[in-house]
Amino acid sequence: MLEILPSILAADFTRLGEQIAQVEAGGASMLHLDVMDGHFVPNLTIGPPVVASIRKRTKLVLDVHLMIENPDQHISSFVQAGADAVSVHQEVCRNLDRTLRQIQSEGARAGVVLNPATPVATLTEVLDVIDYVLVMSVNPGFGGQRFISRTLDKCNDLRTLRSRHGLNYDIEIDGGATRDNVGRIAASGANWIVAGTSVFGEADPAAAYRELKQAAEGALRPLA
Ligand code: DX5
Ligand code: ZN
Repeated sequence: MLEILPSILAADFTRLGEQIAQVEAGGASMLHLDVMDGHFVPNLTIGPPVVASIRKRTKLVLDVHLMIENPDQHISSFVQAGADAVSVHQEVCRNLDRTLRQIQSEGARAGVVLNPATPVATLTEVLDVIDYVLVMSVNPGFGGQRFISRTLDKCNDLRTLRSRHGLNYDIEIDGGATRDNVGRIAASGANWIVAGTSVFGEADPAAAYRELKQAAEGALRPLA
């Protein structure tokens, strides 16, 4: 299923509940939450209390992207706060297989994130455990960056590997998605497309969400 995931990083945090309600009314079914620790990435954002507050206000599927070192220590708190899906960076996980199984045993879907410089080949041994792979199309840490097109090759490769091995993980992409490139992104095989600035940076987030969704779906429709 193709989904556009609004990322609250670009939202107005003084009106977070209202902004989430807007995209929910616009048709969104998933929400992307960026957790940053000031170590793995040079920025700080939210923790479990904010996830818990959001959980009380919305039925959207909450996709929590952990840009933190030592994620194992915090997985349980985020799932208890209401995360439905939790992704960890390949670059910080010394025991990736164990971390993924930990997320699943807490009751959430387990994702692995690949930075732009990290190859798909690093996941070969865990592809059958993974529920979703998140391909970073910008370097993590900030919203509003330029899309790195080369990362689409990784989405293509992940799709090929998925069918070759009969697996069914989702392919997520995060960073720099806009109305102009979302068609190319969808065509590459990514089916969860994160969009921060291009949703919450717009005057009407619900309309922006719908336009992105239509543009992505349009690229998947067979030519008449
Ligand atoms: C960046 C975050 C992204 C960010 C994307 O490190 O992981 O989720 O919100 O923002 P845009 O869509 O503005 O690039
Ligand atoms: Zn993210």
